[in-house]
Amino acid sequence: MNTPTLTLSANSAGLPSAEDLLDVLLSKMTLEEKIGQLQQVDASADPLPDHLIEGVRTGRIGSVINLANTDACNRLQRVAVEESRLSIPLLMGRDVIHGFRTIFPIPLGQAAAWNPDLVREAARIAALEARSQGIHWTFAPMIDISRDPRWGRIAESFGEDPHLTGLLGSAMVEGFQTADLSGHGAILACAKHFVGYGASESGRDYSATNIPANELRNVYLEPFRRVVQAGAATLMTSFSDLDGIPATANGALLNGVLRGDWGFDGLVVSDWNAINELIVHGLCEDSRSAATEAALAGVDMEMAGDAYASNLAKLVEERVLSVSQIDAMVLRVLRLKQRLGLFERPYTDPSGFDPLVSGKALDVAYQAALESLVLLKNDGAVLPLRVADLGSIAVIGPLADAPHEQMGTWVFDGQKTDTVTPLQALRQHFSGKIDINYAPGLETSRSRSHALFGEAETAVRNSDVALVFLGEESILSGEAHSRADITFPGAQSELLARIRALGKPVVTVVLAGRPLVLTENLPHTDSLLYAWHPGTMGGHAILAVLFGDQAPRGKLPVTFPKSVGQIPIYYNHKNTGRPPNASEMILIDDIEVGARQTSLGMSAFYLDDGSEPLFPFGFGLSYGNFELGGLELSQQVIGLSDRMKIQATVRNTGAYAGFETVQLYVRDVVGSLTRPVKELKAFKRVSLEPGQSALVEFDLGATDLSFYRRDGSFGPEPGKFCLWVATRSDGGIKAEFSVGAY
Ligand code: NOJ
Repeated sequence: MNTPTLTLSANSAGLPSAEDLLDVLLSKMTLEEKIGQLQQVDASADPLPDHLIEGVRTGRIGSVINLANTDACNRLQRVAVEESRLSIPLLMGRDVIHGFRTIFPIPLGQAAAWNPDLVREAARIAALEARSQGIHWTFAPMIDISRDPRWGRIAESFGEDPHLTGLLGSAMVEGFQTADLSGHGAILACAKHFVGYGASESGRDYSATNIPANELRNVYLEPFRRVVQAGAATLMTSFSDLDGIPATANGALLNGVLRGDWGFDGLVVSDWNAINELIVHGLCEDSRSAATEAALAGVDMEMAGDAYASNLAKLVEERVLSVSQIDAMVLRVLRLKQRLGLFERPYTDPSGFDPLVSGKALDVAYQAALESLVLLKNDGAVLPLRVADLGSIAVIGPLADAPHEQMGTWVFDGQKTDTVTPLQALRQHFSGKIDINYAPGLETSRSRSHALFGEAETAVRNSDVALVFLGEESILSGEAHSRADITFPGAQSELLARIRALGKPVVTVVLAGRPLVLTENLPHTDSLLYAWHPGTMGGHAILAVLFGDQAPRGKLPVTFPKSVGQIPIYYNHKNTGRPPNASEMILIDDIEVGARQTSLGMSAFYLDDGSEPLFPFGFGLSYGNFELGGLELSQQVIGLSDRMKIQATVRNTGAYAGFETVQLYVRDVVGSLTRPVKELKAFKRVSLEPGQSALVEFDLGATDLSFYRRDGSFGPEPGKFCLWVATRSDGGIKAEFSVGAY
């Protein structure tokens, strides 16, 4: 047992500081109680097992995961506060990934809105709902850079770009935590998975990652650097092996980069049982060695495993770990409990909160779903549909009325009874005005049976337009749900082809947890709207766009490949010595269908799929038509600490009002390390009436061009840069500027 050390420095009000109070508490704790604070236990069983309750009573559990409602949380908290020796409250964690009860679009869908304010607002609602049920800690945002759509967890990510991911991840952190963690409805965010999980080989979940140092620093770590700056209170380690050292044992990254270089002073939690999995990875012989590796690497708390509980005391006794190391870990836990105000207010009173699924929550869910929709094709301006021209609509597809599926992955508390499907929304809006001929054609997205095709064809024959809702059920993405073939599952492609053959206008809406390969399907639809898994209010949002009450405005946060063989394919790749160009040969079934050779006759492309994706990062149509012009830079040369202004005009030359997100990309032409061919630096959305134009201005500083350079230092390098103002990553109007060495 430790000897209490009561050295309290008074603050300006003559009271001991918060940190001093924690020191006093720490001095009263036994080693066993300290280790208890480092233990997060699964509390999903109902009723809770006696040993868990006893663990809380004896101070051997500091946190639980998966307890889901106010009564259960308060009941267990009462054991901690009223029955344990030191009355230390529990920290209650739960995965609140894209909403608690009100479900927002999956994070990848939220990313397509390119709107940090909206992400912040959705996270705020999720935090309020979760906190009203007794939850203090969520395990989001997931800010793993994701370049492989086969990986099921791409649904939880913000896509492939470090800048967009850093910005949206920070906004999500701010929404969960607010400016004051002890304030009403604030919860702890947890940025995950540190680091590199998104690079799991071939998109197979949990697989090894091999990320070169430059790529790790400048791509995979970058969003974490940003969210740490934004104040993320906690981080979770990745399950994955990174170049021989699983992330949960990676001291160079946890103690070195995260705490050392970036000054992170929050809590690091392992992923679920990831410390014991160090044995399976083949890094450690047993759980004693796993606990040692993780503790020394900088993992403070163990989630749902017993390596710490079983070994830390012995490791201290044997002086493998020091008491001061354990104290530092424990203080990080206690500090968060204190910042949340749990010592003063350990219980939750739901009456102080809005009810779940409030009108305000639904408004934000609607807006988030609306802004997440990406229009990928609109031939012949089939969209927006004009109600006056329509007597009947065929509603086809397994996802037209699938309230559970449209919520997407990682939904524990959302209920399908709250969900508005596209079919429900259509019926609510149009019954009595337009005939709605609903025939799903397939029972589920995975069904291979053609038995219902005939019914669907009849519905289309009897209608003026076919609205076809295809995609993936929620179970087809998320953790441990990777796919090797990412075309439409089941017989959906055949269904679409059969409908196309009937000669009616076809509008396809895709609800999915990842970019799908749609190359074969594109010719079979006039319009294509990508809706991801849009959540509770998806039906209303989709309807608003299809019928022109709202113009689509989403932009892809990730590249859509033409084929699985193109993966990984992402816009911010490195150049090659033989870059692809427009004159590649395309061979399909051994017939040359494309035009010809590069000047060298050889370049980086596939004979069958060229080098271009199906849809590039940043792409997304609206109902207007937008043209860029008048690019002007305030300076041609800037110093290393200077900033410049970049202006361009965007004009809506189309017949409809709409939105355009104007994007600023930069290329560092020559670097001490080779640099990506383009990097997103900023973006702004404008809303324009037909014929209207707007001036868009960006402010770019030389420091925004910083990267980890060849000598390991961080900063911009002097030299020549290209710049594009664009509406998608593969185009735009171009200028050049230089950064001078002054
Ligand atoms: C494992 C997942 O990788 C992680 O993201 C999640 O937060 C935990 N399980 C808890 O459910």
